[in-house]
Amino acid sequence: MERWNNKVAVVTGASAGIGLEITKTLLRHGLNVVGLARRKEKMEKELNNFNDAKGKFYAHQCDVANENDVKSAFEWIKKNVGTIQVLVNNAGLGFPGSIADITNETVKTIVGVNLLGVIWCTKEALKIMKGESQLESIIININSIEGHRVYKFLDLDVNVYPATKHGVTGFSESLRSELMGQKIRVTNLCPGLVKTDIAGANGIDQGIWSEPHIQSKDIADAVTYVIGAPSNVQITELIIRPLGERAVAY
Ligand SMILES: NC(=O)c1ccc[n+]([C@@H]2O[C@H](COP(=O)([O-])OP(=O)(O)OC[C@H]3O[C@@H](n4cnc5c(N)ncnc54)[C@H](OP(=O)(O)O)[C@@H]3O)[C@@H](O)[C@H]2O)c1
Repeated sequence: MERWNNKVAVVTGASAGIGLEITKTLLRHGLNVVGLARRKEKMEKELNNFNDAKGKFYAHQCDVANENDVKSAFEWIKKNVGTIQVLVNNAGLGFPGSIADITNETVKTIVGVNLLGVIWCTKEALKIMKGESQLESIIININSIEGHRVYKFLDLDVNVYPATKHGVTGFSESLRSELMGQKIRVTNLCPGLVKTDIAGANGIDQGIWSEPHIQSKDIADAVTYVIGAPSNVQITELIIRPLGERAVAY
């Protein structure tokens, strides 16, 4: 990871769960990290006094579903922090409920954050990565096993969440193909159940944690592996599940 020392990374959804842990890991490795999330104060509270940090942390408020927010966030980063070489598209959410009953507003929120948010942030990051610098760069999409098959946990209806995550799988492939021959690697990283704030934040029964699960650190360690691999080694797909995960694919 030494070659990433002092380089600039952007992590979306850095205020909690997997994104927070990835941010801590990158800071430990000496990267300067910009966290994007709606709760700026939470990011500051969690990370401003993070003792293990070798790099600098910047909290920036941004709703990734909002194109204008994303545009101005990346402009701010380029002007105030530097050339982005690492983008971790991690922000995501999902609310249980049937397709028949879920409101159109909720559908728009899930699609807006999980799919459009990934696309907006990637487009803005590419402008910088493909710009004058042409430095080694990497984009990691924190997807889900729901990006490959539709799994049910605790018999919960997962409505449009798998559709957004399948969309991210397709987007990652399109991106990789489009960037062929350039110095930008793309990884589609798909966790199974990870213990985070996701249940509390999205109204999912806390009983879900009686299911086999892994920790955010397990995903952050995988991100270190993916970024730290030699620049000609592209880990296109990574599925990381808890041993004994019983999620059922229909
Ligand atoms: N936990 C799991 O079992 C699991 C499994 C597979 C995949 N994943 C994926 O992993 C990613 C992280 O999930 P997690 O479990 O860490 O969830 P989490 O603990 O609920 O954290 C979600 C993060 O996303 C951010 N976020 C949500 N809406 C946002 C928006 N509109 N704009 C910017 N940031 C937004 C939140 O920040 P603010 O609220 O401050 O905006 C928060 O930092 C998601 O993409 C999720 O789909 C999770």
